[in-house]
Amino acid sequence: MSSPKPALKAGIPCHVGIVMDGNGRWAKAKDKARLDGHREGASRARDVVQWAHDLGIRQLSLYAFSTENWDRPKLEVRGLMSLLATLLPRELPMMHEKNVRLRVLGDISALPSAARRAVELACTETAGNSGIDLILCLNYGGQQEIIAGIKHFARQLLADANPEQLLQDLSVQSFRSYLWRNELRPVDLLIRTGGESRISNFHLWDAAYAELYFTDCLWPDFSFAELDRALQDYASRERRFGRTSEQLAK
Ligand code: IPE
Ligand code: IPE
Ligand code: MG
Repeated sequence: MSSPKPALKAGIPCHVGIVMDGNGRWAKAKDKARLDGHREGASRARDVVQWAHDLGIRQLSLYAFSTENWDRPKLEVRGLMSLLATLLPRELPMMHEKNVRLRVLGDISALPSAARRAVELACTETAGNSGIDLILCLNYGGQQEIIAGIKHFARQLLADANPEQLLQDLSVQSFRSYLWRNELRPVDLLIRTGGESRISNFHLWDAAYAELYFTDCLWPDFSFAELDRALQDYASRERRFGRTSEQLAK
């Protein structure tokens, strides 16, 4: 079976995904409310988009709200949603300046209407930009994405004149088109801040071969130097996709 992409010495990653974790602990350490941490975290999200653009990263996906985050206290969820609704429209000038196209990963139909409208408007407004794709992961879960992919495939199977053939033809490569990542490049580098060494339901399909980078840095403290460290680390890795070093050298 072929590898997901040609085995390459890692350079600048095309698609970087970030689990922006640690806002709450950052706030707690400063005797502030958790929402203050989220507000500061939103400023870092703004910064990282601009850094990623300037570094030539083509797609940046930011994990902003997971399917599991609904289980947080109502007040925190409401606060996060209203931050989204108020802060996102303010970023439109920056998104145009940096030629950012906003996209969404996740089911935003479940978001409160003000937040959903702000996201939809920003997506429409920036649809013509081509410098970098910013993929905001909202009400996103990797397991939910895979289940949605299975349902999508099953529906096609039920409607197909030759379902047995469709079933036979299903492969790792073709299944990708049933997922929500049809227009996404595979995640090359997955960064998680906040000190936890887990994926927390982010980009499960692509986690198969993404390079993982964990840092103790809390998200509101993330800096260009931190991003640069992650990229340097990534560049030093050998992406073998199951092969041997000797094969790659040929
Ligand atoms: C990440 O920071 C932001 C969201 C999940 C929305 P946390 O809020 O999880 O911060 P910690 O992990 O409690 O420090
Ligand atoms: C992951 O962080 C989700 C986001 C950053 C949006 P969490 O703080 O929700 O993850 P767990 O609960 O520590 O796994
Ligand atoms: Mg957390």
